[in-house]
Amino acid sequence: MSAPTPAGTALKITPLGDAIGAEIEGVDLARLDDAAFAQIERAWADHLVLRFRRQQLSDLDLMRFSRRFGALDRVPIRASDVMDHTDPRLAIDPEAREYVTIISNVKVDGMAIGGLGNYEAHWHTDMSYNDTPPSASLLYGIDVPPAGGDTSFCNMYLAYETLDEASRERVRGLTCVHDASRNSSGELRRGFADNDDPTHTVGARHPLVRVHPVTERPCLFLGRRRNAYVPELPLDESERLLDHLWAHATQQRFNWTQQWRQHDLVIWDNRCAMHRRDGFDDRHDRVMHRTQIRGTAPMRYV
Ligand code: OGA
Ligand code: MN
Repeated sequence: MSAPTPAGTALKITPLGDAIGAEIEGVDLARLDDAAFAQIERAWADHLVLRFRRQQLSDLDLMRFSRRFGALDRVPIRASDVMDHTDPRLAIDPEAREYVTIISNVKVDGMAIGGLGNYEAHWHTDMSYNDTPPSASLLYGIDVPPAGGDTSFCNMYLAYETLDEASRERVRGLTCVHDASRNSSGELRRGFADNDDPTHTVGARHPLVRVHPVTERPCLFLGRRRNAYVPELPLDESERLLDHLWAHATQQRFNWTQQWRQHDLVIWDNRCAMHRRDGFDDRHDRVMHRTQIRGTAPMRYV
């Protein structure tokens, strides 16, 4: 995009589905003023996931825009840190390397340059197994496959509000342990033992219903299904309750699916939305640059 967004211009905000997601038009995120950001922030609180198409963002632009939402999380050490940085598919601004991660299936000399590969990623909240999961993640499409690799989002406020009354009352006082041992596509993380017994899950324990610190609305907080455990209950009851909550929360009517185009920027609220990704044909490259905003400990709903 070229011309700066004139100060005071109203952005065009179009809901992308009934439950979650909105498209924002009429803004260049590389040249954003405070008035436009205020509108974006309000739209984000209302729609949980925002999509901006046709954005030309350098890694530093992506970082600058991301920082308006809070402090950035540092990226973990990754395979590409030890790889040949002259390969154009690995290109990342050196000043951005601490804060911008690559999500990609691309391999150079047999080594993955980014996270998640081409696998399906199951429904999850990013890093819910930490005591302070990120508040948001931003994903910018640099290279996207012609089909597949769609990312779906679901609205966890709605999931909570539409629960049957008995379940709503029941889950309010309960917590859940979130498994840290595997990533969202099911791969065992380094340093973790393989475990199939939810009562032995290693990871953070969070309230099942949390209050969003900005909107102050309650939402379900499920995080990830595998090895999840409600420690207040015997295992069979915990499994039954979690199956019920997951089946309810992941219904199509609470979802919207992003079909990526190159230069789409999507931000999701990781406190009140979950996401999942379809797999895709590994013959196509998918390269996304990603930032993550530091969060706070989930607050219990009382
Ligand atoms: C993530 C993630 C989805 C995608 O980056 O946290 O789940 O579409 N990615 O690659
Ligand atoms: Mn994720």
